Amino acid sequence: MSFYRVVVVGVGYVGLTTAACLASLGHHVVCADIDEAKVAALREGRVSILEPGLTELVAKGLAAGRLEFVVGARAAVGEAEVVFLCLPTPMGAGGAADLSAVEAVIAEVRGLLPPGCVLVTKSTVPVGTAARVTELLGRGDVAVVSNPEFLCEGSAVDDFMHPDRIVVGSDVQHAAERVAALYARVGVPTVLIDAASAEMVKYAANTFLAMKLSYVNAMAELCERLGADIADVAEGMGFDHRIGQSFLRPGPGWGGSCLPKDTHALLRMSEAAGFDFSLLRATIETNEGQRDRVVEKVRAAVDGRLDGARLGLLGLAFKAGTDDLRDSPALAVAHRLREEGAELVAFDPAVPAAVVGVTDDVAVVSDAGQAVKGADAVVVLTEWPEFRKLDWADMAGRMSGRVVVDTRNVLDQDILGLANLSVIGIGR
Ligand code: UGA
Repeated sequence: MSFYRVVVVGVGYVGLTTAACLASLGHHVVCADIDEAKVAALREGRVSILEPGLTELVAKGLAAGRLEFVVGARAAVGEAEVVFLCLPTPMGAGGAADLSAVEAVIAEVRGLLPPGCVLVTKSTVPVGTAARVTELLGRGDVAVVSNPEFLCEGSAVDDFMHPDRIVVGSDVQHAAERVAALYARVGVPTVLIDAASAEMVKYAANTFLAMKLSYVNAMAELCERLGADIADVAEGMGFDHRIGQSFLRPGPGWGGSCLPKDTHALLRMSEAAGFDFSLLRATIETNEGQRDRVVEKVRAAVDGRLDGARLGLLGLAFKAGTDDLRDSPALAVAHRLREEGAELVAFDPAVPAAVVGVTDDVAVVSDAGQAVKGADAVVVLTEWPEFRKLDWADMAGRMSGRVVVDTRNVLDQDILGLANLSVIGIGR
């Protein structure tokens, strides 16, 4: 087993998880970030991201002397054998990925990378970026590898340690083998392919998941219209191993920092390549439509009068288990409701009431009771299990209306029924 000197540039959730997990596998990892306050906090083991197991792994890495944090990539790369770029690639103009952070770091380190070092792109980057990075580097002695990540927020450490597969793409064999060797102890199939294909795997996987969700949300609508129950339909479909049970839960539409960004970016790439990927466009349109369908359910819950209606929102995060609000469907729905004149008070177990500027659309409070107080209707937007366990008789007593819209199908309809509340779910 070989251990390597690794540098991770960018300690966001992907970078920090990658660094802490690689350190726990025995590698020596130096993390570089331009945010001085973040580096200072991490040196003391303070992790600001809500990610199970991550704080413990960072503490272990620091204690073992295998994890270090420095300000700026320049200070980190001098002795690196492998450098991971874990930088943000946000949605830029017209939906294409914005690569300016990646380009800036390459400009900064290109003269400093030691000969024989391997540069790895881990961020989701457009197909062809490894080739572009090779060109920008202009160094025949530094190879470029694409090693996309498949971490889900809320289970990132577990996903890293127990992935379904590892994808390593490079046109330089020995560089790909070194990156694959970093993961030797993880012990799962490694797909060794060319760099462009590895970059495409990431988009293909995320957009396929988005398509699966748009399909199930559209199917949920049809179930409602034809008198079927989406939960039963999904279970019946999911036992077919070619389909699988996961990613078949309907909701207010998919969101988060990855699926929306990646679907738009792939659509842009296909347009640029002269291909009309209508299936992908429909996937995005169906997702937009899902938010409108949720608004219509809420309208029905307040007898058609959204203007002036007081609504209690349960959940703001884009999914349960995270405090991440980026591209959250809950915020998109809230925005539409606000545009129609509704007054919104929201509670999310992971989003503190003190968070200012979350959104101009909602007032955030610190418990569910306050959110539903005086509400004409309540809308569940994130599938936090604690919403199911609320004292719904007590909630009913605080509400002025009698309807709860459950966009995640997490509530127990019988229990709410006993509290004299009716539930409008999705696809049932
Ligand atoms: C997603 C992918 O699942 C990861 O494999 C990938 O590594 C990651 O993006 C990334 O590119 O970094 P993540 O954004 O953390 O992970 O979130 P998901 O768990 O995929 O959820 C995405 C959205 O779909 C959420 O809004 C979630 O609530 C929704 N969803 C998911 C459903 O509505 N129903 C489901 O059955 C599953």
